[in-house]
Amino acid sequence: MTSPVYYVDGRFVPADQATLPLGDLAIMRGYGIFDFLRTYRRVPFKLREHVLRLYSSAEQIGLAMPWSVGEVEAIVHETNDRNGYDDAAIRIVVTGGPSPDLMMPGQQPRLAVMAEPISTPPERQYAQGVGVTTTRMARILPTVKSLNYLGAILAVVEARKIGAVEAIYRTPDDHVTEGTRSNLFIFRGGKLLTPESGILPGITRQVVLEVAAREYPVVLTDLTYADLLGADEVFITSTTKEIVPVVKVDGQVVGGGRPGECTQDLMERFKAYVDRCLTGPSHRPHSL
Ligand code: PDD
Repeated sequence: MTSPVYYVDGRFVPADQATLPLGDLAIMRGYGIFDFLRTYRRVPFKLREHVLRLYSSAEQIGLAMPWSVGEVEAIVHETNDRNGYDDAAIRIVVTGGPSPDLMMPGQQPRLAVMAEPISTPPERQYAQGVGVTTTRMARILPTVKSLNYLGAILAVVEARKIGAVEAIYRTPDDHVTEGTRSNLFIFRGGKLLTPESGILPGITRQVVLEVAAREYPVVLTDLTYADLLGADEVFITSTTKEIVPVVKVDGQVVGGGRPGECTQDLMERFKAYVDRCLTGPSHRPHSL
């Protein structure tokens, strides 16, 4: 397979030649942000939403963004077109750039856009559900999609040891907020519940809320660990996962131990939503 083409700091280069100077604040201090989207049949899904979230992340950490939304979108399209994957994972990265004292941010952030063939969860995760753990790690500035996933990596390494695929953040007052790379939902008494704050505003979460609102009462509310264990159904969402049912939390069976009916219904509706975006209204859009 040929090497993917990345955009880095003004140039398109083969992935294995894409480099950043070591003095970049992203490398020295983890100061930088990213966003992550996918394509369906070569068409970027919710590109504008992802780029706007990127700008929101940048603003929240005071990172300069010398590019316009249109410029960033054009670079994403060009990276996607140059690679030509049917279903691509696209990462937009903005690093802090050079800093005179390796601490204070300057005004020369660097932009990179990477594309790879997407890797989605194995089919059995959708059919049988997955296990998750909970972690006492916390994200600082949870509404920012920061490059720093230190707590996430440590938590997922622990989760994998017991066969779980994801770890859910659990606060000191025993609320559960989101996964390390996903948002969290439960069904209880026919209602769909998900936290409103203290989370990354997931783009998949937003689509799920939109699709679900036509069928189910939706409640945006804090969730406790007890809510999670006692839920009728649990699922997590992300760009690569879409909707994945959760059947175990910290080794305890939840939701009867199999993917729930409402979750499966939402999985269908999510797919139908994507298909509608791809086929309608007249011809194929540049992005969905
Ligand atoms: N992560 N919460 C966190 C902390 C995340 O990192 C992600 C996504 C989500 C879900 O957001 P979305 O639906 O927009 O993908 C929620 C990506 C997939 C990643 O880090 O690889």
